[in-house]
Amino acid sequence: MIETIATKPFDDQKPGTSGLRKKVPHFQQPHYAANFLQAIFDAVATGDGDTLVIGGDGRFYNREVILLAIRMAAANGYGRVIVGRGGLLSTPAASHLIRKRQASGGIILSASHNPGGPTGDFGIKYNIANGGPAPERITEAIFAKASSLTRYRVWTETAPDISRIGESRLGDMVVEVVDPVADYADLMESLFDFALIREFIASGFTLRFDAMHAVTGPYGREILENRLGAPRGTVINGVPLPDFGGGHPDPNAVHAAALIEEMMAPDGPDFGAASDGDGDRNLIVGKGIVVSPSDSLAILAANAPLAPAYAGGIAGIARSMPTSQAADRVAEKRGIGLYETPTGWKFFGTLLDAGKVTICGEESAGTGSDHVREKDGLWAVLLWLNILAARRESVRAVVESHWAEFGRTFYQRHDYEEIDSAAAEGLMESLHDRLASMAGQRFGTLVVSEADDFSYKDPIDGSVATGQGIRIVFSGGSRIVFRLSGTGTQGATLRVYIERYEKDPARHATAPEIALKELVDTADAIGEIRKRTGRTRPDVIT
Ligand code: G6P
Ligand code: ZN
Repeated sequence: MIETIATKPFDDQKPGTSGLRKKVPHFQQPHYAANFLQAIFDAVATGDGDTLVIGGDGRFYNREVILLAIRMAAANGYGRVIVGRGGLLSTPAASHLIRKRQASGGIILSASHNPGGPTGDFGIKYNIANGGPAPERITEAIFAKASSLTRYRVWTETAPDISRIGESRLGDMVVEVVDPVADYADLMESLFDFALIREFIASGFTLRFDAMHAVTGPYGREILENRLGAPRGTVINGVPLPDFGGGHPDPNAVHAAALIEEMMAPDGPDFGAASDGDGDRNLIVGKGIVVSPSDSLAILAANAPLAPAYAGGIAGIARSMPTSQAADRVAEKRGIGLYETPTGWKFFGTLLDAGKVTICGEESAGTGSDHVREKDGLWAVLLWLNILAARRESVRAVVESHWAEFGRTFYQRHDYEEIDSAAAEGLMESLHDRLASMAGQRFGTLVVSEADDFSYKDPIDGSVATGQGIRIVFSGGSRIVFRLSGTGTQGATLRVYIERYEKDPARHATAPEIALKELVDTADAIGEIRKRTGRTRPDVIT
């Protein structure tokens, strides 16, 4: 039976870069999650009998909200929900299921790389029928509905057992519990040359995949160990835990330090990788070398035709604005399109749907292709493995030969986390106010050639996104970008992105902190970071 429950709107249910993210106790307030789910259902106005995919990264509170979402879907006219067993689905696997099963959308419960547990983070995100994150027009509609919500609908009976594969009913709706891994693993097998990779591994190529106790453990085991024959133990931290084992499932130098340390040892594995809470990010490490996400995008795009799915070449590349311009040089040389979009995977959807681009990537450790509409951590790992197996080369050799051919783009992102929101906004406003007078200004040897506040007009649907980050370009092409993160749950996070292009191979071995020193100092001079935030150094450098 449908029960209609009276409620009051919460005024803070505005989706950010990637859905609504708050601390678990915030989501546990009475009606909080239900309100937001109802706002989604009201905003997307699903028709009778539609199919909805539901899954999450297994973090604390995942199960409760999955069961609630199933009951609310039944009360809101859905004909079928497809749920990953135990409530688990990686974000790319959910994207694939939405597409494969022609669902009208999906609900993904995740706070991505943010920590989990009873006081950790939680998140709810809606994906549309193409499998991708809802575009801004829909997230704005969700916010509008959430801001005026007076009731939500829930099916009175409890949801069926989601720990066993199979179908059952809740009212008129079918609840289909599926193996979260199988369809996704089949998709990967259809894209890459598994026989070649299997043979490469059998010949002695060694790898390590750190699932960080998040959702990719079962995916990594099935694909890398079962299907590709890597020895048991290749996947470490492979059991998904509600608190990620107390860790922070963010595959970067700070939180994947143990993996990186293992990879730096002379007797370490040949290839190391890690993924985040919901399986859409990736970290790629070779023996003695960490591949920066921006370089990884460029290298994957340049070498993609070595994998069967991309053998015919790629249509174009898209990258988020703060991502380095390394990929631009690949696009230029190959004579294909390059699109620069705001931060957030949702901006790639129209370009992928229109066939303008095949490969997309972001500096925030996300890479993916038109096989789904999300970034995809294991996909990036498998494309790397396919490339290495085809070239019979080490990660370092592939990276260095890429730099030799295209030049090296030195790159760093400096994050200042949990800073005072007013200070962060003041810093951005001050930069904004000075934009018009910046061109021509000199900082040491650097001269500003242009400065703007990035805005983007989607070439396919014409939608416009403004205020997407302050871009300061210097003559010679070096850049500093200032942006406030849209995914944090506490205070503000200032991100400063710094890059410099170096064509001369004799200088490619320089350490990034040395190559970028003058730009880093300039970023502080222009942004007044120390003065305004009180911070003398970033919390994380990636
Ligand atoms: C999520 C989104 C990405 C985005 C990243 C960083 O992972 O899916 O598209 O790049 O967040 O966003 P932020 O606003 O924190 O820089
Ligand atoms: Zn993620």
